[in-house]
Amino acid sequence: MPKILSETQIEQFRRDGCVFPIRVMPEAEALEIRSTLQHYESKSGGPLGGDLRHKTHLLFPWLADLVRNSRIVDAIEDLYGPNLLCWTTNFFIKEASNPAFVSWHQDSTYWGLSRPDVVTAWVALTPSNHANGAMTFIPGTHLSDQLEHRDTFAKNNLLTRGQEVAVDVDESKAVTIELRPGEISLHHVRLVHGSPANPSNDRRIGFAIRYIPTNVSQVAGEDSATLVRGVDTFHHFAPEPRPTADMQPDFVALHRQITERNAQILYRGTQVKSYNDPKALPDRAA
Ligand code: NI
Repeated sequence: MPKILSETQIEQFRRDGCVFPIRVMPEAEALEIRSTLQHYESKSGGPLGGDLRHKTHLLFPWLADLVRNSRIVDAIEDLYGPNLLCWTTNFFIKEASNPAFVSWHQDSTYWGLSRPDVVTAWVALTPSNHANGAMTFIPGTHLSDQLEHRDTFAKNNLLTRGQEVAVDVDESKAVTIELRPGEISLHHVRLVHGSPANPSNDRRIGFAIRYIPTNVSQVAGEDSATLVRGVDTFHHFAPEPRPTADMQPDFVALHRQITERNAQILYRGTQVKSYNDPKALPDRAA
């Protein structure tokens, strides 16, 4: 028996590569997380940038809780079984009236993971819709193999390399993922997806949590992950500790070390050495 997804939703994920919306918390609770983030941003002098957008759950207890949210993890368990790691997290923040966009891509392209058993829970912390640059996808494309991508390093592209699929995408088939705060979408690592800019007068904030079953491994270097359910008998990833306060110095140091190693995997074969490299724009993700 599935824990939270209906048979229809599981079927939809298998067929389309994406299922949404799934409510995982009341709207007010998601907006509370947004205020907590913005309180930190105003205290620290600006929007989260560089490596702080990645694996942010190692720096803040309220995000460490979010990656372990039982409704989210139940949904992942319905798809990938009871032993689960959170491999990484990425903030996708599109500021108001901002040209930042995401080109058509498959997440699997540079992640270095051994198998395409990877699912993203994209948590809406603001509304995400047609008006503010919501994610769009092409149903069924997750059934294709790894497609060839080209790196564009295009200005305003939120992806690490501005990578885009090198084949034509039939945009007439695109579906927009509209979410309210506290809802998530789940998408498969091979799904072709992207998103336009946010022309609206408010920020659009999504927190992408990447989950894998414990039998997936990293083939492009040393890596670590957070066990969120069950047991890890494979030990493919070094275990990550859980923070108990915002930006504890030892966690900041560990996070820096982990994200630098992570960036070396994602940027392998390029000139870029870390998320804080000037060639890696400050708001880039994944
Ligand atoms: Ni993506």
